[in-house]
Amino acid sequence: MKKELRGQVALITGGSKGIGFGIAHALVSRGVNVVITGRDGATLVDARMKLQAIGNGAAEGYAVDVRDHAAVHQGVSEAVSRFGGLDIVINNAGLGRFVNIADMSLEQWNDTIDTNLTGVFNVCHATIPHLRRRGGGYIINISSLAGKNPFVGAGAYCASKAALNQFGEVLNQEVRHDNIKVTTIAPGSVATAFGGGAANAGADWKIATSDVGDLIVDLLELDTRSLPSYIELRPSKPPKK
Ligand SMILES: NC(=O)c1ccc[n+]([C@@H]2O[C@H](COP(=O)([O-])OP(=O)(O)OC[C@H]3O[C@@H](n4cnc5c(N)ncnc54)[C@H](OP(=O)(O)O)[C@@H]3O)[C@@H](O)[C@H]2O)c1
Repeated sequence: MKKELRGQVALITGGSKGIGFGIAHALVSRGVNVVITGRDGATLVDARMKLQAIGNGAAEGYAVDVRDHAAVHQGVSEAVSRFGGLDIVINNAGLGRFVNIADMSLEQWNDTIDTNLTGVFNVCHATIPHLRRRGGGYIINISSLAGKNPFVGAGAYCASKAALNQFGEVLNQEVRHDNIKVTTIAPGSVATAFGGGAANAGADWKIATSDVGDLIVDLLELDTRSLPSYIELRPSKPPKK
């Protein structure tokens, strides 16, 4: 039997644009109340208004940098107070600094690891007690095919996502008996402005952000007894090489 999503509460990091916004859109459309985060306040306000205009679940936007452990704890407390609890956590905020290792600055390295890996730790650390209090929940980490497929110029990015894959496997084993599911989704190219490109560049063959949202709805609706723990989501027809 499909699980009812209406009335559940979801936190989506980096929900102000790109994949995170696509996920938020899919969840609000199913009556989920969402809290989206990002660093840029104006983008958050705009995204929140678009989500509220759907007229189904409620939406809040909090400016929280996932790299800031204390700010993440504070933001999660506010989200829980606003909606009375938390059921779903989507660790989506991430960035890529694409520079060869020999030319990469320490700042670029730290930015990538702190956001893509430590940021997920910070959010899990702050949210797991609330999921446990609720009797269970769902944590979904947005990794990347780059976590398994290394390529030149992506040393920090590939390392952050490979580590995130392992983090998700461990987390799953640690929380599954608390009725908390953990899934890692590793997408290929998604039509967003990630890495500074144009959101619509190659959009005809790339994964749409709404596809990631639909996949997450399917996962959340799946019976509690089954868990797809690691999913690769690929464009079905990438350009021929
Ligand atoms: N697009 C792809 O082809 C692709 C493929 C595989 C995996 N992914 C992964 O999917 C996730 C989302 O990527 P996207 O393509 O949607 O990128 P995007 O369009 O650049 O969006 C990234 C989101 O993360 C937020 N963010 C970045 N750093 C943050 C921080 N320190 N604290 C809080 N929020 C932060 C951004 O908001 P602010 O800038 O306002 O903070 C924005 O909301 C990333 O983890 C990425 O690695 C993307």
